[in-house]
Amino acid sequence: MFTKIFKNGTVPETQLDMQNIPAHIAIIMDGNGRWAKKRHMPRVAGHKQGMETVKTITKAASDLGVKVLTLYAFSTENWKRPEGEVKYLMDLPEKFFNKFVPELIENNVRVKVMGYTEQLPASTQKAVLDAIEQTKHCTGMVLNFALNYGGRAEIVTAVTNLVQKANEGQLAAQEVSEELLSQHMMTADLAPYTDPDLLIRTSGEERISNFLLWQLAYSEMVFMDILWPDFDQVALQEAIKSYQARNRRFGGLKEEEE
Ligand code: FPP
Repeated sequence: MFTKIFKNGTVPETQLDMQNIPAHIAIIMDGNGRWAKKRHMPRVAGHKQGMETVKTITKAASDLGVKVLTLYAFSTENWKRPEGEVKYLMDLPEKFFNKFVPELIENNVRVKVMGYTEQLPASTQKAVLDAIEQTKHCTGMVLNFALNYGGRAEIVTAVTNLVQKANEGQLAAQEVSEELLSQHMMTADLAPYTDPDLLIRTSGEERISNFLLWQLAYSEMVFMDILWPDFDQVALQEAIKSYQARNRRFGGLKEEEE
């Protein structure tokens, strides 16, 4: 439900508790294809518009004081899509960073990537590495792209690394803990914000789709009907308001319930 909205399209900040902004927001950006289909346009037109939304939401999240914004841009399963669409998606990071890096720097946003990036085309890898290098001095929000990422594969990789360490005599079975596994996940360098506080999925689907399986254990989830290319700062604020209305207990009780 939308409440009072300013002329410039924003919800008055007083309606958001600025002391309770989720530190880490993860988004499954779904609905690009349907957005394009509704307009009788090719699916890739939806991805192009989706890229524009990434710009808008990066700025909006950074302005709200979000510490980490993780975006699911390409999953390990997305290779099954038609070749032309995969190629288009692989070219998007280059298009995005070529245009947007100066603005990221202006907003003090640092780029990071998680996923099996060594399997990406060389030009995509270069675009991402250049953006990471160009923004490495930025100290504000981290814009974390999940590219060729899969949650189960990530867990398998982490476990493999632990087994290897054990085989080399560097680790004993009793030393394996949740903390240690966390330190071997692709989000380890986001500490202390490794786990999303809020997961948003657009387009009305209510699935996790192999995204951050380990890290989402206690995340609040907000599923919205809006298609990703239509998502905007008002929708982001609505998702945060919904998050702020939740009672996060992490399996325990709140003080007033004890
Ligand atoms: C899901 O919509 C979307 C994707 C698989 C791609 C997401 C990519 C972007 C939003 C652009 C990313 C931008 C950068 C800078 C890398 P879908 O195609 O599955 O939509 P549908 O379910 O309606 O078919």
